[in-house]
Amino acid sequence: MTSAPPRAEIPTLSDLPLVVETHRLKLRPLTDGDDAALWPYVSDPELPRLMSWAAHRDPSETRAFVAFAKEALAKGSDLVWAIEHEDRLVGTIGLHGIAFELRAWRVDRAELGYWLAPELHGKGLMTEAATAATRWGFETLGLHKITVSCLEQNIGSRRVIEKVGFRFLCKQEDDVWRDGRWHGHLWYELLASEWGDTTRTLRFTRPRA
Ligand SMILES: CC(C)(COP(=O)(O)OP(=O)(O)OC[C@H]1O[C@@H](n2cnc3c(N)ncnc32)[C@H](O)[C@@H]1OP(=O)(O)O)[C@@H](O)C(=O)NCCC(=O)NCCS
Repeated sequence: MTSAPPRAEIPTLSDLPLVVETHRLKLRPLTDGDDAALWPYVSDPELPRLMSWAAHRDPSETRAFVAFAKEALAKGSDLVWAIEHEDRLVGTIGLHGIAFELRAWRVDRAELGYWLAPELHGKGLMTEAATAATRWGFETLGLHKITVSCLEQNIGSRRVIEKVGFRFLCKQEDDVWRDGRWHGHLWYELLASEWGDTTRTLRFTRPRA
C-alpha cells in the first residue's frame, strides 16, 4: 500500500470546523447541558450491552461524560459529537485516542466509536454518521488511519463498519468478559489512501422507507 507522508503541521483540534451536516443528521461537539438529553438513553442497561461501558446509574455520571468530552476536545485527544436528528440529540459518535506522535513515530490515527437511540436503528442513520465522521477524520483532521472494533455478535455495528468501507484485520478470540462469558472482538482499519470513494455518501445517505 502506498500512502502520502503525514501532514507537515499537526492541527489543533479546536481550531478546525467541528460541525458536520449530512443529509439527515447534524454532528456537533457535545456541550454543557447535553446530559439531560443523553440521560434517558445512557441509563438504559440494554444500550451499552455490546460496548465497553456500563449504563449510567446516576445523572452525575452523564454530566461527567460531557465534561470529559469537553476536556478531551480541548486537549485534542478525542472529539465526541452529539448526533442530532430532526433537532433532537439521538446519539453520539466520536474519534477517540487521536494521536499524531508516539515517541519518534508519526501515527496520525484515531478510533471510531458510536451509539444511536434504539427507536432509530435500522434506518441507515449510523452508516450516515460514521461515513461523515470518517470523512471528517481524513479530509479535515488529516488522519492517516482510522480504526474501529466491535464485539463479534454486534451484527448491526459490523454492517455499519463494512458499509463505510473499513478493511477487516483480525478476530481476537475470547477477548473481553461481560455478562458471564468471553466475547470475540473484531478489528478493522481504513487508511486515508483507501478513502477515495466520493460516491459513498451519496449511496448511504438516501432516506429509507
Ligand atoms: C450498532 C448501531 C450503531 C447501528 O446503528 P443503525 O443506525 O441501526 O445502523 P444502520 O441502519 O446504518 O446499519 C445497520 C445494519 O445492520 C443490519 N442489522 C442490524 N441488526 C442486525 C441483525 N441482528 N442481523 C442482521 N443484520 C442486522 C441492518 O439491517 C443494517 O444493514 P443493511 O443496511 O445492510 O440493511 C446501533 O444498533 C446501536 O447504537 N447499537 C447499540 C450501541 C452499539 O452497539 N454501538 C457500537 C459499538 S461497536
